[in-house]
Amino acid sequence: MSAPIVRKLHPALGAAVTGIDMRVPPDADLLRQLHAIWMEHLVLVFPDQNITDAQHVAFSRAWGGLEVHHQKIIRSRFLPEIFRVANVGEDGTLLPPEHPTVRQVSLAQFWHTDSSFREKPSIGSILHGLEIVRSGGETHFANMYAVYDALPESLKRRIRGRRALHDFGHLHKLAQLQPLTEAERHAMPPIWQPLVRVHPETGRTSLYISPIYNDEIEGLPQTEARELLRDLQEFAAEPRFVYCHRWEPHDIVQWDNRCTIHRATAFDPTQRRAMHRTTIAGIAPVLAA
Ligand code: OGA
Ligand code: MN
Repeated sequence: MSAPIVRKLHPALGAAVTGIDMRVPPDADLLRQLHAIWMEHLVLVFPDQNITDAQHVAFSRAWGGLEVHHQKIIRSRFLPEIFRVANVGEDGTLLPPEHPTVRQVSLAQFWHTDSSFREKPSIGSILHGLEIVRSGGETHFANMYAVYDALPESLKRRIRGRRALHDFGHLHKLAQLQPLTEAERHAMPPIWQPLVRVHPETGRTSLYISPIYNDEIEGLPQTEARELLRDLQEFAAEPRFVYCHRWEPHDIVQWDNRCTIHRATAFDPTQRRAMHRTTIAGIAPVLAA
């Protein structure tokens, strides 16, 4: 039986987990152990797991149902549960920075948490670094429990009981992509989510923002909402809350979307970067604090 070995990566969050083989889905006992480690550390790094997409999907299913992304330009042609964060097409060609897929994927350079625009946002994501870059192209994660705890009382007061709008279409404005069509907007309507949430498993309170999708706060004029969102985001990005992951080939990183935000850092677009993600589907709406 494999037993996971845990090494902490940053005082706020993140742990490297070795001693397990992701080619096979975890049995109930291993799943229980990994779950406890995940809830404690929020972001798990599994080094050197050179697995196939099918094994990645099978491992991920142990955690729950998987999202299938609603956009063709992002999901794999071969396995719909695979979400491609890549500047490389599935035929292996390097795509130019102005390619719509690359432009959309580049938006991961803004802080966000995955699929917060859904009524039942994702539980967690599992990202496999297939082709990585050595300079830039890191992934940064912030512990939003710690961020909430440390927020100045004045900021806590301003967000308590309020909701932010999470709008998939906001991403398209930021990227100057084609605005959503009526049908796309209908398929993924904007949704109000509480700014302060409770984690359904740990019971802990965290700040819930996903700046890539947020442009409005309920009851505030837009300029004030934008300022507040910017202040919250800047606070969350302080190094004391953030683990910066520098990728090695075939690292697999699993994070909790309910208590962390993340972003990629910039890199030279002539370098190939290909990451494959599965997304554990949410089973309930966000719990307001
Ligand atoms: C993601 C994401 C960041 C990265 O896969 O959800 O935001 O560094 N990725 O590729
Ligand atoms: Mn993401």
